[in-house]
This record gives sequence, structure tokens and C-alpha cells, in this order.
Amino acid sequence: MMRIILLAGARPNFMKIAPIIRAIEKHNISSRTNRIKATLVHSGQHYDHKMSQVFFQDLKLPRPDVYLGVGSGTHSEQIGKTMIGLEKVLLKEEADLVIVVGDVNSTLAGALAAVKSGIPVAHVEAGLRSYDKSMPEEINRLLTDAISDYLFTPSLDADDNLKKEGILAEKIFLVGNVMVDSLLHNREGIKRSQILSRLEVNPKSYALLTMHRPNNVDSGEILLRIGEAIKKISLRIPIIFPIHPRTKKNIEKFRLKRFFEDKHILFIEPLGYLDFLKLTTNARFVMTDSGGIQEETTVLKIPCLTLRDSTERPITISQGTNTLVGNKTSIIIEEATKILDNKSKKGSIPPLWDGKTAQRIVSIICQRTATGVSTLPQGRENNVG
Ligand code: UD1
Repeated sequence: MMRIILLAGARPNFMKIAPIIRAIEKHNISSRTNRIKATLVHSGQHYDHKMSQVFFQDLKLPRPDVYLGVGSGTHSEQIGKTMIGLEKVLLKEEADLVIVVGDVNSTLAGALAAVKSGIPVAHVEAGLRSYDKSMPEEINRLLTDAISDYLFTPSLDADDNLKKEGILAEKIFLVGNVMVDSLLHNREGIKRSQILSRLEVNPKSYALLTMHRPNNVDSGEILLRIGEAIKKISLRIPIIFPIHPRTKKNIEKFRLKRFFEDKHILFIEPLGYLDFLKLTTNARFVMTDSGGIQEETTVLKIPCLTLRDSTERPITISQGTNTLVGNKTSIIIEEATKILDNKSKKGSIPPLWDGKTAQRIVSIICQRTATGVSTLPQGRENNVG
């Protein structure tokens, strides 16, 4: 029996962990000898119903076995508290492997707690780089990858980034995009969502906006620039804006409500997974600074304007429907106008974004352990029970 700890903590983790849990359950049904005991740990980095529980319901995730209750705080507080809480679980469970996903503070904390306890780490969504170290997520990505033993990548650019950083090729596994597993698995649930009628909007009659990056929303000046663009665009097409708690606080703090609360802008609470994807699927286009939404719009072939100067997901630009627009008012308006004038890019779906990524991850982990192949660096094998 292999004991695996899966760690999730913030909103964008939940749709990445769900397919892995499903793939482990499937593996356990078909395998009698090489079974896996999975323990789901929720760090509690996100804790509001709308940022956490609703995703457990929508994605049919099991209740976490352990809830660390870390909550909000500075980066060091979040990372430190997660490490302390997780370390106790790792010792108690005598874990053989820790799986972390994405690039949030909980991801880095999980990887650090595991290596410090001599337990191998698998990082799902490894190798993504924006090359912008002012983003907290970039630091999380770099450090998590540097100490992980299995690096599961979504696309070839990620493999190249890792190799450039000197990571051994035998630790890197190109498996595809695990978020796409969730998207495809939940197609029916997304179709059934009633959000369009609840909001009284018709398909393709609105644009969708999300924004929460500190680079954009912690600065009054940048928030104002984006607000001016949004207000102008909303004169041509109504905008639906499910608002992240960080952004809501800052719009109030910088007194910018007049740009975002307007008769053409529908300011709503954060949405669950199924409702959000129903809105995405039916949007004329999406404006966002999220990472995952750049990928979801590529798969759904919906034009996406990313309110950032760089992306760690360049394949969504080279192959998908994504365009970087930064945070300059005139550029955002110009690119939105192109889409409204039917000049948007078409895009195609990247290889291995096929809904089978989690299956590939579980089968690689099982093969490596069954054949006794260790991906641990020399010297660490002795630490592992
Ligand atoms: C975190 C991730 C980011 C991810 C985002 C998705 C890091 C460094 N950042 O950013 O990569 O894209 O989640 O949402 O890990 N808050 C609530 N309720 C909650 C959670 C947070 O009100 O359930 C508020 C708190 O005031 C908190 C603020 O939102 O201080 C920010 O939360 P935090 O987890 O620190 O970072 P995010 O901005 O959500």
C-alpha cells in the first residue's frame, strides 16, 4: 500500500486535485497489489464558502481528511503555518509521497514540509515560468520545482524551462494539463448550470471579467487604468464581474467603485466552478489576470485578453485564444474592440490537453514505485521509510 498525501489550499488548487483523486480511486478498483491510500489535506488558505466549499460540492471532492485552518495572513505566515500543520500529518501518516499542485503559497509550503521530512514530492503543473519574480507565484513555482522529485508538466515549454534550470530530464514527465481533466469531466454539470437565466443574460451577449493579482489590484493607479478601460468597453458590451475578495476590498479602499459599479457592469460575488465555466463558455470574450482561465478559454475557444505583461502559460498565446494586453487603458480597449469587430484569434487545443492527464500521473507514480525506480537525489533515499 502506497500512502500519498494530496495538498490543496486555495481556489485554483481544487480543480487540479479532483481529477487526481478520481484517477487514484480508479487505479484502486483495477489494482489489487499496488493500492494507494490517499489522504486529502486542505491547508485552509482559502476558507470562505465561495472560495472553497462550493468547489468541493461542484467537483464532488471528498471532505478533506485534515483541515489545517491556516487562513489569511502574510506570505510567511501562510507558508509557515501550512508547513507546521502538514509536518504533523506527514509524520502521523508515514507518507510515501506528497502531491502538490499549481503555484500558490500552500503549494510551496507542502513541498518544503515534505522534503524537510525526507518525503518525495510530486509537483503537478511544474515548469511554468512568467520570468517575473515580482509575482509571488513565480517564486512558488521556482522553489517548488527545485525541490520536487516528480515534475509533471502541462506543455513542452515547461519541460524546456526546467531543463534550462538544470533539472534532470528523468524527473520531468510531460503529462498534459490536469485542469482540462476537470473541465471535460464536468461538461454535463456545466451545461446544466442555471447561471445565465439567474443573471438574465443571453449567450454571447456579455464579456466576463476577473481580476485579483496583487500587481493589478493592490495599486490604485493601475486599478484606475483598468477601470477606465472596463467602463469604456461596457458601453459596447455588458460586462459580468465576479469579484475576488482582495479586489473588492481594494476597489473600496481606493474609492474606485464608480468605474466598476455601473449599469453596464454586473458586479457579483465569486462563483462556483460550474457556474463560472458556464459563463465562460457563453461569453463573447473574457478579460482576466488569472492563470487557469487563460487555459480554460483556450480549450473552450473563447477569446481571452490577459491583463498582464507576461504569462507563465505562453502556449495559450502561441496556440490558443489568449492575447496579453497588460494594464494600459488604450491597449485593453483596442484589443477588446478587435474582438467585438470579429477580428479575434481562433486558436487550437495544445497536445495532451485531453482529459487523461491525472490518469497518466497516477500510472507514472505507480510504475516508478513498482519497479523500484527512485527519483530521489542521491543521499535522500536513506531518509525515506
Ligand atoms: C491566492 C494565490 C494566487 C491565486 C489566488 C486565487 C498565493 C500567493 N496567491 O491569491 O496565486 O491565483 O489565490 O484566488 O498563494 N480572502 C477572503 N476569503 C478567502 C480567502 C481570502 O476573503 O477565502 C481575502 C483575504 O482578505 C485575504 C485576501 O483575500 O487576505 C487574499 O487571499 P490570499 O490567499 O492571501 O491570496 P489571493 O489573492 O487569494
